[in-house]
Amino acid sequence: MSAATETQAGPSSRIVDLLDVERVRRDFPILHRTVRENRKLVYLDNAATTQKPQQVIDRIVRYYTEENSNVHRGVHYLSEVATAAYENARTTVKRFIGARDEKEIVFTRGTTEAINLVAQTWGRKNVGAGDEVLITAIEHHSNIVPWQMLCDEKGARLRVAPVNDAGEVLIDEFQKLLTSRTKLVAFGHASNALGTINPIRKMITLAHAASAVVLIDGAQGVPHLRVDVRELDCDFYAFSSHKIYGPTGVGVLYGKEAILDAMPPWQGGGDMILSVSFEKTTYNALPYKFEAGTPNIAGVIGMATAIDYMDSIGIERIAAHEQNLLHYATKRLLEIDGLRIIGTAAEKACVISFVLEGVHPHDIGTILDEQGIAIRTGHHCAQPLMMRFNVPATGRASFAMYNTRDEADALVAGLEKVIEVFR
Ligand code: ALA
Repeated sequence: MSAATETQAGPSSRIVDLLDVERVRRDFPILHRTVRENRKLVYLDNAATTQKPQQVIDRIVRYYTEENSNVHRGVHYLSEVATAAYENARTTVKRFIGARDEKEIVFTRGTTEAINLVAQTWGRKNVGAGDEVLITAIEHHSNIVPWQMLCDEKGARLRVAPVNDAGEVLIDEFQKLLTSRTKLVAFGHASNALGTINPIRKMITLAHAASAVVLIDGAQGVPHLRVDVRELDCDFYAFSSHKIYGPTGVGVLYGKEAILDAMPPWQGGGDMILSVSFEKTTYNALPYKFEAGTPNIAGVIGMATAIDYMDSIGIERIAAHEQNLLHYATKRLLEIDGLRIIGTAAEKACVISFVLEGVHPHDIGTILDEQGIAIRTGHHCAQPLMMRFNVPATGRASFAMYNTRDEADALVAGLEKVIEVFR
């Protein structure tokens, strides 16, 4: 499909076709339902999970209706069909992130599992007592805790690069923390809690100059930005299907082939072996070495359909639409008396975290919900970041390709009602 209708100079100052948001919305059935007391749904919780287009839903139904079988195991027709669809999905993912080879694409349950896989295989093998793992102050818990667990086990030290009051990583401080002890550097492409987009190419170059291996938590990057892992030269890149309009419970670990090859396997079981005897097991080739057990076949196939869907619209067009929304919604929210945005980085994804003077974020979320407006409130799985900004929690509105200016206006009107209740 083409969602282009007219052109304008986009925020990247390239000519970008405008996204036809009404046409995109027609692909997402859930956006047309009502919630609570017959309220029109305004879904602004996309950093938590995105909604799914009919194309993805139909593909999963077709898989279970016509193709369901286990992969890599059978000589029968359905197993061949399922295996082909599953492996074609790997090729789709490879192309989507610019990887060199399908061997570099490992399917996981999501970003969290991908990061844990690296911590428990590469990490256990390569990080020792006295070594350091460097992260930043804006990480999601899933890019903190696996490294903390590894460091505790190994007697290594977790270092944290600080951020400024806008929520931007202080690159000079980041660079100072890179030493000969730094074995691995892990940071988000974009912050789920603040929206900050990190200058990841620069950070990767600096980390490599210190001979560290680099993992990017791309859960909030892939939905909004074109990713080319070879151009970035990152060693690992992890992301989740459900943040890019695909099903939950499936994600990707990209790793450079030589690095993955040298890593020990993680979970043991079917598919990750070449041969098993009670004396000795030999392991399968990449990427199967890291895919023990029956995978989420329908999920993987659904994820590939979601990627095709994003490609059919165009990531640049999605990004331009979201940036327009970010600027519009930020301007409108700042008109609200007593509202403070937490996270004002120069480069942001369309995520707006805020606090409202005198109102707890959970009350904001509840009153908005009564009006059909879904946002996330809480610490956003980033408690250290909340502490850095001295707030217990925030309200967070996060936008996707199907959101509109009218919905940003609805959020503002909803917040005015919150204020009426509390003042
Ligand atoms: N990481 C997801 C969020 O930010 C769940 O809401």
